[in-house]
Amino acid sequence: MIVRQPRRNHLRSVPLARAEPVKSLLHLDSSYSGNSVSKHLTSLYADTWRERHGAVGYRYRDVAADPVPLVGPAYCSLRRRLEGRDPVPVGGVAAVAANAAEEREWASTLPLVTELLAADTVLLGVPVHNLTVPAPLKAWIDRVTVPGVFTDPATEESLLRDTEVVVVTARGGRRGDDFLEPYLLAYFGGLGVADVRFVHAELTRAPDVPRPSRFQALGTESLAAARLAVVELAQGFSSSADSLEVSRIEP
Ligand SMILES: Cc1cc2nc3c(=O)[nH]c(=O)nc-3n(C[C@H](O)[C@H](O)[C@H](O)COP(=O)(O)O)c2cc1C
Repeated sequence: MIVRQPRRNHLRSVPLARAEPVKSLLHLDSSYSGNSVSKHLTSLYADTWRERHGAVGYRYRDVAADPVPLVGPAYCSLRRRLEGRDPVPVGGVAAVAANAAEEREWASTLPLVTELLAADTVLLGVPVHNLTVPAPLKAWIDRVTVPGVFTDPATEESLLRDTEVVVVTARGGRRGDDFLEPYLLAYFGGLGVADVRFVHAELTRAPDVPRPSRFQALGTESLAAARLAVVELAQGFSSSADSLEVSRIEP
């Protein structure tokens, strides 16, 4: 379900005398491009976010430049064993690993899971590649999605239910012509995330591809609206920019 959120101003709602807890942002980029539109937009969000919250809680990963290893047989056997049990908390997974290969898989997965659990906000820069997410982001998704570790064993609720996810997309074509948004909505909904915000920049290739000039104007407008949306979101406002869609996912 897609709904518009009312404008919020967190700064006004916090009593002046009380210090805000340190906020954390996990920023993930996944573009190979030298002149990446998604990276340009996520870096604008991150700069604005750091102006507001400081740099202490900021964590950056570029999964295109520094790829997450693809999952292999040992990862899959560990995953199968975890699926067959009641939710195993993150601290208990090592004890479930059956051999050295599974231990190695878990060792390269644990930092990713820990970062995701620690984040108040997850910011994803996502270019559309062949109708969906690019391979480096899919590799991160496959590895980080360890069954059970995002579930509170006591309540069986998702540990990510209060995590805000901001997905900044860039595509050469038009919104709605690919599967990126429904895919990521289904993915984060499955993890128990309730709040996913998409900012879209479309027609990013309009200046390079021979097309009618109106597409160039639309591409320019889309980028300007996306820039406005990421700045307002990072400032804590729900932007009214056209490029923004806010999704509340019902459990
Ligand atoms: C391998 C590859 C596949 C692409 N597939 C699509 C596609 O399916 N749909 C689309 O609209 N654009 C597609 N594009 C264009 C990119 O989405 C576009 O260049 C976008 O700006 C990429 O984001 P970035 O600038 O952050 O790298 C593709 C580009 C590449 C390199």
